[in-house]
Amino acid sequence: MAKNLKEMLNDCELLPIAGLINQDPIIVTSEKVGFFFPVYSWALPKIVYDFIEKIDLSTTKYIFAVTTMGGFSRQYVAPLVNKLLKPKNKELDAAYNLRVFSNNIWGSKRINPLPSKEKGEKRIKKALLKLEKIAEIIRNNQKSTARKGSLYPMKDSYYSFMKKVNIMDEKYYSDEKCNGCGICQKICPVDNIKLVDEKPEWQHKCQMCTGCLHYCPQKAIQWGEYTFDRERYNHPYIKVNELMNQKQTL
Ligand SMILES: Cc1cc2nc3c(=O)[nH]c(=O)nc-3n(C[C@H](O)[C@H](O)[C@H](O)COP(=O)(O)O)c2cc1C
Ligand code: SF4
Ligand code: SF4
Repeated sequence: MAKNLKEMLNDCELLPIAGLINQDPIIVTSEKVGFFFPVYSWALPKIVYDFIEKIDLSTTKYIFAVTTMGGFSRQYVAPLVNKLLKPKNKELDAAYNLRVFSNNIWGSKRINPLPSKEKGEKRIKKALLKLEKIAEIIRNNQKSTARKGSLYPMKDSYYSFMKKVNIMDEKYYSDEKCNGCGICQKICPVDNIKLVDEKPEWQHKCQMCTGCLHYCPQKAIQWGEYTFDRERYNHPYIKVNELMNQKQTL
């Protein structure tokens, strides 16, 4: 979706957060900046929270956020981004949510099922149509109505997710199907996996993006008992190499 938006906007550069997060300070020179990320725990992945907190936006005149989500529409995204932007004397000009499907594995299969191929494609088509409209608003520097929102009660649950997310990898392990290929290590956006004796070991700075689990070609990674009978999810338009390359320092 972020790649699609890049094509829809004129003269747009797409920079993966995983490749920028270790820069200090993170300085942008563009007058228009957007954050594109999946909704986690009704709000922002921790790496996105840290990134927005760190980024220097002093020359920026228009800021937008576009998120993808599994399906829970009540969100804490816009008010939280605005809270992070306030000390920089900035606020969101536009904020939008796109419903796709969920790769979350700790919720129950019933609440977070993967859609059939047909349903998945339908959802993507619908999201792309919405994205065309969003792109037009962004191209014209318009403001969107959903850019503020309130700090609604789910924030307590969000902060508890933020507190524990780095160590949620304690439940990850690889089973006997692991052949030591190292893809999980290469794919992890925050270098949270070390291979020891050709087996992955998680280093407790996890973002719970679930990439390692879903992209293991042997389906050898489990998260506790939650994943024994769950399908794995590979995004239809993303190649493994793109995921591996995203953390290269830009
Ligand atoms: C740790 C985690 C938490 C999530 N929390 C939410 C949520 O609160 N609400 C929601 O609608 N989707 C949630 N999701 C689903 C993601 O937003 C969804 O999988 C993502 O947007 C899919 O886009 P992608 O394939 O580009 O990653 C969560 C996913 C993960 C992995
Ligand atoms: S990607 Fe899967 S098979 Fe390859 S090292 Fe990691 S756990 Fe083992
Ligand atoms: S790839 Fe795996 S270890 Fe790395 S952040 Fe994502 S879930 Fe955590």
